[in-house]
Amino acid sequence: MQKIRKDKFYRKSVLSIDQFTPDSFNHVFSEASSLIAEHERGVVHNDLNGKIVTLLFYEPSSRTFSSFCSAAKRMGAQTLEYQNPTSTSSYVKGETMEDTIRVFANYSDCIVMRHFTTGIVKKLAKIIDVPMINAGDGSGEHPTQALLDMFTLHRRFGRLHNLKGLIAGDLLYGRTVHSLIKGLGKYQGNTLYLLAPEKLKLPLYVEKEIKRLKIKVEYIKDEKDIPKDCHFWYWTRVQKERFSDPEEYEKLKNSFIITPRLLKQRGNADMVIMHPLPRIGEIDIKIDKDPRALYLSTQVKNGMYIRMALLKLVLG
Ligand code: NCD
Repeated sequence: MQKIRKDKFYRKSVLSIDQFTPDSFNHVFSEASSLIAEHERGVVHNDLNGKIVTLLFYEPSSRTFSSFCSAAKRMGAQTLEYQNPTSTSSYVKGETMEDTIRVFANYSDCIVMRHFTTGIVKKLAKIIDVPMINAGDGSGEHPTQALLDMFTLHRRFGRLHNLKGLIAGDLLYGRTVHSLIKGLGKYQGNTLYLLAPEKLKLPLYVEKEIKRLKIKVEYIKDEKDIPKDCHFWYWTRVQKERFSDPEEYEKLKNSFIITPRLLKQRGNADMVIMHPLPRIGEIDIKIDKDPRALYLSTQVKNGMYIRMALLKLVLG
């Protein structure tokens, strides 16, 4: 049994949340939980000794880059780090992505990549025999963020089914919500309330997935319509970099903001507040100290453990 489960990840790319099943989510989560327990006991890991993980990030990143970096090192691997390749790599000279990735495949045991083009990581993973991990592809997907978000919910509520959640902000361009909705859609009985400006509703391909997977979603128009019994609020920023018209961004950027007042009126004592970060004004900083706010603490920490678990499973 153990062997079959391990083979599911070993030397396989992680490109989309579509690849996962409740069983494989569980496998990553139990690996991450063991790593947390071991880390708390002071265990130092060297499972990935001698491995090199390349971090190739064509878009800005704080958390995803650093948590992969920290995760790889905490597992004993070394990292080859490339931020801003658009100004520092042969990209400037006009090298194709295909050539770049083939070259990095020679240097590394795994390539973690973020890029501004939707679908590119999947495309490149096909031409190399080194596993790739999608760290965010344009407005497409962000599977490892969804894994850490789901792991956070799982640790808090002990389950990923029969949950009620509110997902707010930029649903059109926000890749984290695309992955999260599809991920939670793999469990029975979840209801997701969606709160977004009219122009930033989910893209058609995610809508299609929602229909196919029979995920229960309901758009709400106003903050005052937020059901009071949500287990979680998942807030996101409006993705400035995807707008061709800066004025349009200015109009939409702070359509919905969590304030102490809103939390008091529409929240409840058992819920959690999550955000993939960065937060650009859409959560009042007064909320940060609230024990229900997980975005600057638990969620971030879980991200590192999830990535440690994933690297361990992929690199073995
Ligand atoms: C997100 C991303 O890059 O998609 N950030 C992250 O990885 N935690 C969300 C965002 O940038 O808004």
